[in-house]
Amino acid sequence: MAKNKAVVVGAMGVIGRKLIQHLEQLEDWDIVGLSRRGPDFDTRAQFISVDLLDRADAEAKLSGISDATHIFYAAYQARAVWAEHNAPNLAMLVNSVEPIAAASKGLRHVHLVQGNKIYGSHLGPFKTPALEDDPPHMLPNFYYDQQQWLSRERQGKDWTYSVLRPHSVCGFALGNPMNLSTVIAVYATISKELGLPLRFPGKPGAYNAVYQCVDSEILAKAMTWCGTAEGAADEVFNITNGDFFRWRNYWPKFAEYFDMPLGDVQTISLVEFMADKGPLWDEIKAKYGLADISYADIAAWPFADYVFGTDWDVMTDTLKIRMAGFHEYQRSDEMFFRLFDQFRALKAIP
Ligand SMILES: NC(=O)c1ccc[n+]([C@@H]2O[C@H](COP(=O)([O-])OP(=O)(O)OC[C@H]3O[C@@H](n4cnc5c(N)ncnc54)[C@H](OP(=O)(O)O)[C@@H]3O)[C@@H](O)[C@H]2O)c1
Repeated sequence: MAKNKAVVVGAMGVIGRKLIQHLEQLEDWDIVGLSRRGPDFDTRAQFISVDLLDRADAEAKLSGISDATHIFYAAYQARAVWAEHNAPNLAMLVNSVEPIAAASKGLRHVHLVQGNKIYGSHLGPFKTPALEDDPPHMLPNFYYDQQQWLSRERQGKDWTYSVLRPHSVCGFALGNPMNLSTVIAVYATISKELGLPLRFPGKPGAYNAVYQCVDSEILAKAMTWCGTAEGAADEVFNITNGDFFRWRNYWPKFAEYFDMPLGDVQTISLVEFMADKGPLWDEIKAKYGLADISYADIAAWPFADYVFGTDWDVMTDTLKIRMAGFHEYQRSDEMFFRLFDQFRALKAIP
């Protein structure tokens, strides 16, 4: 059987690296990973170091990829100002897809990872459960621009495209701006070292609101399914673990996992209150013989403040992808415990 060749754009991210690790287990995939950094994990994927914001660099490095069958796009550039996300994130998509599609005549599918921010989940209460054909929030929204470009670019081509909309992807990655599971593990570790109970640091309303997330492994499987299932061609799907939860019900379980007393809700800005904890993290690393991962790389406090400040329900309807044939699911509490176990095995936390 002819092999597929996946180009994973954003190969060092919490999404990209898990997709690579998933595809590596499948015999019929060759893999190319794109990012500026080289891999910090064992992989059989070929890595190409490229700056996708630099069109000339992208053309020079990517126009030699002549046998790609699939592009999985999960690169991301964070910006402090919302409207400033559009230009760099659209440029990276265009600068990767155009050269590869021009060189790879056998290209069959381009997959784009979006997120619930297309529905305005970051702005305040929005219509829940959100459906794939709900209108976007008041533009600008970089996911919207990316999808518009991709669906136009696909016209008249032999390849199809698909889009997944995950929320709060949980997995392992370093130096990335959005990673919920590592941030919870580091917050709990530091609280415990200081002799504090495990307090929910967000807003009281966020403790009680309905929330959802997705395991990076489920997302990787869904991305692979999108790339190969007929029912996914030119479709958009929400994707989550399949369940909903409230932090109020998870925080006691986390306290038990980390062997700490449970505290009350005490709203703080983690950006502000964790800013001085770098030296303490170095002490924790030395005391417990942890891997030499820098404090800045392991915990993105702005993302934690955002998630734990979300005092409105975040719910998407995921029936569409299930009815189309993707049936993987995961209990979210079990996912957190499995990931915390993995972080311990990696010596990222004590
Ligand atoms: N993480 C979540 O919880 C979450 C939830 C919902 C939706 N999403 C969406 O999923 C997509 C991917 O997010 P993510 O969290 O996986 O991102 P991430 O962990 O920050 O990874 C981003 C990837 O893009 C690469 N990259 C950034 N700038 C680059 C450049 N100039 N040239 C080449 N590569 C570049 C990074 O590698 P280098 O730094 O080495 O270049 C990294 O591999 C985004 O659209 C995000 O909004 C994420």
